[in-house]
This record gives sequence, C-alpha cells and structure tokens, in this order.
Amino acid sequence: MAAVTKLQFNPMNEELGQVIQEKGAPTSEEISELGVLKGKTALVVGGTRGSGYGAALAFAQSGASVTIVGRSEASGSKAVSKIMDELPDDDSSPPTTVKYLQGDIGTVASTKDLVERLKKGETRYDYLVVTAAIFPQPQKRNPSPLNDDGVEKSFGIAVVGRFLLYRNAHSFMTPPSADNAYSPMILNVCAAGCGKLGYFNRKLVFSLGWPHMLNIMNFAVGNELMLHKLVSEEKGNSDGTPFQIPIISTHPGYLKTDLHRGQGIFLDFAEGILVHFMGSTEEVCGRREVSILCAIGKKQSELSKDDSSSMVTIVDNFGFGRLMNKYTKKDLEDHGDWLWGLLVSMEAGGNIDTYKE
Ligand SMILES: NC(=O)c1ccc[n+]([C@@H]2O[C@H](COP(=O)([O-])OP(=O)(O)OC[C@H]3O[C@@H](n4cnc5c(N)ncnc54)[C@H](OP(=O)(O)O)[C@@H]3O)[C@@H](O)[C@H]2O)c1
Repeated sequence: MAAVTKLQFNPMNEELGQVIQEKGAPTSEEISELGVLKGKTALVVGGTRGSGYGAALAFAQSGASVTIVGRSEASGSKAVSKIMDELPDDDSSPPTTVKYLQGDIGTVASTKDLVERLKKGETRYDYLVVTAAIFPQPQKRNPSPLNDDGVEKSFGIAVVGRFLLYRNAHSFMTPPSADNAYSPMILNVCAAGCGKLGYFNRKLVFSLGWPHMLNIMNFAVGNELMLHKLVSEEKGNSDGTPFQIPIISTHPGYLKTDLHRGQGIFLDFAEGILVHFMGSTEEVCGRREVSILCAIGKKQSELSKDDSSSMVTIVDNFGFGRLMNKYTKKDLEDHGDWLWGLLVSMEAGGNIDTYKE
C-alpha cells in the first residue's frame, strides 16, 4: 500500500498507536489505487477552504462522495465548483457527488441544528473530517471574544462544537462493523496542544488571554482532553452508549490559509517563513490527511478489536508526543473531569457560571 509506506509508526509508543508522519504526500493516483475510498461517503466540516478543502478534493479524486460544511454559502458553492472542475470526465461507477451543506459549529445551538439536519438526511457517512477553526484576534480588535454560550469563540469551535459533533456521530455515520477496519472513522484536524508550553487554563475558556495566543494553545490542549474523555467515558455518545468510532487527530503542518489573517505583521512574516521552509499547499495537505485515514484503517485491521487503545491515534508531522506525554497526563488529571462536566452541562443547556472559578 503506497500511502501506508509513507507513514512510519513510532515503536516507542506502546500506549496509543502514535504515528510520525513523513514529509510529503502520496499522489491522488496512489490513494485511488488503494481502493479504500471509492464509493465511500465523507463529511468534511471546514471543507470550504484550507486543509479541509484539500481533504474534500482528495476524497472526490479517489471516488468518494463528499459533503462539505462551512458557514459561508459563497465559499461553499465556490469550493464545490472548484472540486468538480478538478475531477476527470469519466463514467466512474458509482458517480462521485460533491455537495455543500451550510453549517456552523460555533455555538451549542447552531451545532445541534447541524446535527439534527445530518440525522434527518439520507446519507450515512463513512468518514467525518473536521478542520473548522478560527483564531482569536487581539483584544483591541476583539471587543466581544465570547460566543452566545459565554465561551471564548475559538474554544467554542475547537472543543464544544467538535464535542457535540463527535458525540452524535453515531447518528449520522455508518455503524462500525467487525469486517470493515477502514470506516467509520473520524479525522480531527487541529493545532497541536503538546502542553509543553503551558498547562490548560480554565479561565481562558471564558475569556481572552494576554497575549491572545494563549487561547490558541488552550483550545488545542482542550481539544485533546475532550477527545481522550470522549473515548474513555462509559457514556461517550449522546444516547448514553459507549463511543465506538476510531478518532485520528492530526496537526496539518503549515499552509497559507485565511486562518492566520489579522494576527499582525510579525505573524504574517513568520507564516511566510514557516510555509516556505516547512509548508505545503492545501491540496498536498488534503492528500496527506486522507492517506492517514487509509493508513490507520490498515493498521487497525491488524489490531485486536478489543484493544481500546486503538480508539484515539495521534498523527503528527513534527513528532510531538501528544495526549500521552506527562504534561497532557497532568492536564487530564487536573481538568479532564471538569471539562467533561462543562461540556455535558452545556449540551444539556446548563448554567456554565458554576464552572467559572
Ligand atoms: N493553516 C495552518 O498552517 C495550520 C497550522 C497548524 C494547525 N492548523 C489547524 O488546522 C485546522 C484547519 O486550519 P485551516 O488553515 O485549514 O483553516 P481555514 O483555511 O481558515 O479553514 C477553516 C474552515 O473552517 C470553516 N469554519 C470556520 N468556522 C466555522 C464554524 N463555526 N462552523 C463551521 N465551519 C467553520 C471555514 O469556512 P467558513 O468561514 O465559511 O465557516 C473554512 O472552511 C485548524 O484546526 C487549525 O488550527 C492549521
């Protein structure tokens, strides 16, 4: 399997099946040749731009049908046309469809609305990829940093919105089956929260820090704590059943997208340097993301089905050991139950003031 050979599993990690990603990405022909994605269905939340757009394109080029979700109808329609233009004119069977679905995972109410529409829809998805994110802006340009739920906006998307999506994924994805290791699967694309730069800060869930960059690290660590709790809690799904869909979490590497805009000249410059020396395009990044799904599916087919450690896999270009390192373990001990309590309470419409210290 060409894509698999481009991934190197880290033998040092016995706990969570970490993978260290090599540079580059397979070609779309190499991914298609794996035969894993043809005829499958993928939902890409954040697929209208950036790395999510790249993943949606790679799915479609491999014969999967794709639904992309984002807030802006204009970006969504543009992305669908761009993807369709990239597909060859052949009579592939079954035909690949590419659709846009308006959706916003920025608040509890808007995420629940999206989940309800997905539940009622005809399609059951084999893959869910979530890249949706925003970066907070500095205090002077960001007079209202909280969303309608009273949570800092970037945290609202990366942790609360994603939690609600994953917790309900069983209701709009294909059910797991013993003879299919490749799907259903979730790919969580997010900034790395390696924890080495600071511990999780509960105050930043409800406020903008100084500097506001602290919120980015906080949502990244919060995202990892949330994933860990989701798969380890007995009642991980919204209906009280255990969570059963394997999740792969990855940092996409560096690429020039709209995400970093508005952070100031210094960061524009730093982005240019990082992307020049270590970066990739959204198309390359998307192929890498999709090939990770194929590779982990292959790896999972070799693991025991009772092995719960296969439920979360971290894939990282930069070799940060995440979730399982000592910093993240401490965060999990100190804040895991608190965060889980907050998320479940928000889902139930509870009063979040009780969580502010
Ligand atoms: N780019 C990088 O170099 C880089 C580096 C490290 C980590 N990452 C991580 O990779 C992920 C993707 O980044 P990216 O650069 O691809 O981002 P991006 O280009 O800004 O794209 C974000 C996508 O998410 C959608 N989106 C934003 N808010 C949403 C919401 N509330 N509900 C639904 N969709 C929403 C956007 O569409 P609408 O605006 O229309 O909603 C867009 O399709 C992020 O988690 C980021 O932290 C990126």
